[in-house]
Amino acid sequence: MIATYPLPPPPLSHSKLFVANTREISIRLYEEDYIISKHFFNPENCRNESEVESKFIVHYLLPQLGYTPNNWYQEVTISNHRFDFLVVSPIRLQSKKYAKLIVEAKHPQQNLDNHLRKFTRYLVSIKADFGLITNGKVVRIYEHKHEQTSLILTIQGRDTENKISEIKKIIGKEEIVNSISIQTNNQRESKVSPRGKEMKVIAVYHNKGGVGKTTTVVNLAAALSKKGQKVLVIDLDSQANTTYAAGLIKFQDEMQDNIKDNYIYHVLREKNKYFISDVVRRSKFTTPEFDVIPSHINLMHHEKELAEIDATRTRILAKLQKSKDKYDVVLLDTPPSLNLYAKVAIIAADYLIIPSDLKPFANEGLVNVKKFIEEINEFKGVIGKEPIEILGVLPSKIGTHQRFVKYILPNMEKTVKERYGFQLMKSRIFERRDVSAAIENSLEIGDLDVPDPKSILDYKPNSIAAEEFENLATEVMELVGIK
Ligand SMILES: Nc1ncnc2c1ncn2[C@@H]1O[C@H](COP(=O)(O)OP(=O)(O)O)[C@@H](O)[C@H]1O
Ligand SMILES: [Mg+2]
Repeated sequence: MIATYPLPPPPLSHSKLFVANTREISIRLYEEDYIISKHFFNPENCRNESEVESKFIVHYLLPQLGYTPNNWYQEVTISNHRFDFLVVSPIRLQSKKYAKLIVEAKHPQQNLDNHLRKFTRYLVSIKADFGLITNGKVVRIYEHKHEQTSLILTIQGRDTENKISEIKKIIGKEEIVNSISIQTNNQRESKVSPRGKEMKVIAVYHNKGGVGKTTTVVNLAAALSKKGQKVLVIDLDSQANTTYAAGLIKFQDEMQDNIKDNYIYHVLREKNKYFISDVVRRSKFTTPEFDVIPSHINLMHHEKELAEIDATRTRILAKLQKSKDKYDVVLLDTPPSLNLYAKVAIIAADYLIIPSDLKPFANEGLVNVKKFIEEINEFKGVIGKEPIEILGVLPSKIGTHQRFVKYILPNMEKTVKERYGFQLMKSRIFERRDVSAAIENSLEIGDLDVPDPKSILDYKPNSIAAEEFENLATEVMELVGIK
């Protein structure tokens, strides 16, 4: 049967249509596509590039190879290259990456040879594992391995159906993972430093304010530091509470402001300047000291400007890679919002802690948190990063009344699990005067009261509050695999 196309191809911008159930929708909209994809399909009948994309690739090839619409992204731009399709195998490799396949469609009258150099350069630059390029008449599959790209299969369009199992053996959803999981074990891009430790990047986020995010970040940083970890804290909140708690705001008037010209904004803004090591300060919040990238109230005025530059979203990620030998743990403090800075933190992080006082507003906020994270995970998939791993909701600022702790708290925790679908951490941080007093600590110098914030572990090392943060540090280290 020769396929004819009385209906126009679906517009590409409607690719979301395929998300629910490709087959059902294609039956409804394009009955003949369904018949074609089930029985026989000759891509040589495609009349233009968009038919190669929609009829050949979306409706026939990708489903035949076992991919569902959730596994591919259309018209993706990465590092200034635009790809027709980025197909990501949903099965996580041991290297914590996903197998990646780039599919490029060309017009039937285009000679593929003219596109090969560019295509193979793309494969290398985004570290795809395989690439498929086709104009409908010819299909070529490339493999990218050990920094080299080689042509491993060429077939005529009309032979696609006969050779589909051969193609599947190379780039089928399951097969692609098996074929590369062995090699990636040896040559993965990793965050392992010469000290043999892998840098762990953890975001602390909830879109509700006042739930103890900042308190968690700074005291957890102190507890990890005391356990011998090299810690970097990044403050992404324009309220700069972490920067304050870290003792970096010592100046009394704006003229002495030594942060406004060198803080997280500059890290995000500039590609080739303001690396982590250029912006970092030492915090005397605890001993041993940890490092901090400060924030500043001016950060809020820069959001629009930074949001217009796509690369700001991945800049922390890229710059952290350069500092991976220096730190064991990076903690990112976030604003209580769904804004760019929260996004940037979640993109950069491998793990997430969600502090919550478990009260109704905080719980309702969890719905936003979940949706926000899912959207960012989709982006992380596109850039080849695995989804953020949620370590759990951390009960924080919890009342200490005995009856409350015994009867009400367990139910509140159960709600988070059952109604909102989040894991809970084992640790609990209770509301204790000592914790806030430690951060509000100050020194009297002459007539002046100079802020001298301290971690609870330094302020009252034997307190029960200090023990809670030590336990939290132990739990976090176990969860992220630090020995
Ligand atoms: N465990 C705690 N015990 C006592 N006070 C706390 C505790 N956690 C946070 N606080 C206080 O609650 C307020 C909000 O906490 P913060 O950590 O700044 O929340 P967020 O960063 O989520 O806005 C601060 O004044 C802080 O000192
Ligand atoms: Mg805060």
